[in-house]
Amino acid sequence: MIVAGSHNQLLAAALAAETGESLASVSFERFPDGERKVQLSETGDHALVVASTVSDGAHVELLQLQDAAREAGAETVTTVLPYMGYARQDRSFEAGEPVSARAVARAISTGTDRVLTVNPHEDAVCDLFDVPAEALDAAGLLAEALPPLAAPLFLAPDAGAIGLARTVRDAYGEGETDHFEKTRHSGADVEVEPSDADVERRDVVLVDDIVATGSTMSESVAVLTERGASSISVACVHPVFAGNAYLSLARAGVEAIHATDTVERPVSTVSVAPAIADAL
Ligand code: R5P
Repeated sequence: MIVAGSHNQLLAAALAAETGESLASVSFERFPDGERKVQLSETGDHALVVASTVSDGAHVELLQLQDAAREAGAETVTTVLPYMGYARQDRSFEAGEPVSARAVARAISTGTDRVLTVNPHEDAVCDLFDVPAEALDAAGLLAEALPPLAAPLFLAPDAGAIGLARTVRDAYGEGETDHFEKTRHSGADVEVEPSDADVERRDVVLVDDIVATGSTMSESVAVLTERGASSISVACVHPVFAGNAYLSLARAGVEAIHATDTVERPVSTVSVAPAIADAL
């Protein structure tokens, strides 16, 4: 049975439709002191827990769901992390810092037999789990949301995302790819260095794994607007959209935002359910 986290109810339903698996009944409550409580119906022999760890509270909820599934009699538990929070903290960047991705991966491993995650920032994060873990690539699904484009350019805001841009271009069927260079001065202060790519009178699709504060994409959209692109849209796998990210992108001149349902947001028009179903 599929056990949905509170942040992935739509994706869990899409996965149930895709696989024919039933959805377990789950309730989410709080004690007066703010602590969380989850409660499950039966889960059958195999529980598939689907929960993005979009916040610290969502991490606790996932651990509770895994434990409740065992309590309800599941012999095996597979954990699907559509979006894995803390995955970008995959090394100790300064003395005294933890490898936070490893800390959460270890905790998640204690309650599961297997982990599937979607487009983590680096696939190597899978090595931090103590159980078999696999990274799925769902970026190609974003192409289904794109309208017909003129002389399309699929542009990554930094070199690290060029593979994603190529994947979306290949799925779309035509177009060029390129990337900018990015320097991050602080959490929300980002500078992008344009490439020589000719963007004038072209439809440009900016592709990245995640939009968090929106700084990377807003800076990139502003540069492309200044250089005369016909239209600029954003395609990302994980629409975290913290703080004023939508506003920043709108002010910069973005025409459309396409994203998946790993994080459920108003722009999550593409479901990763088929990619997860294939991997089960
Ligand atoms: C980092 O390299 C990632 O691929 C994204 O570019 C980054 O996390 C986006 O963050 P933000 O939206 O805060 O600029």
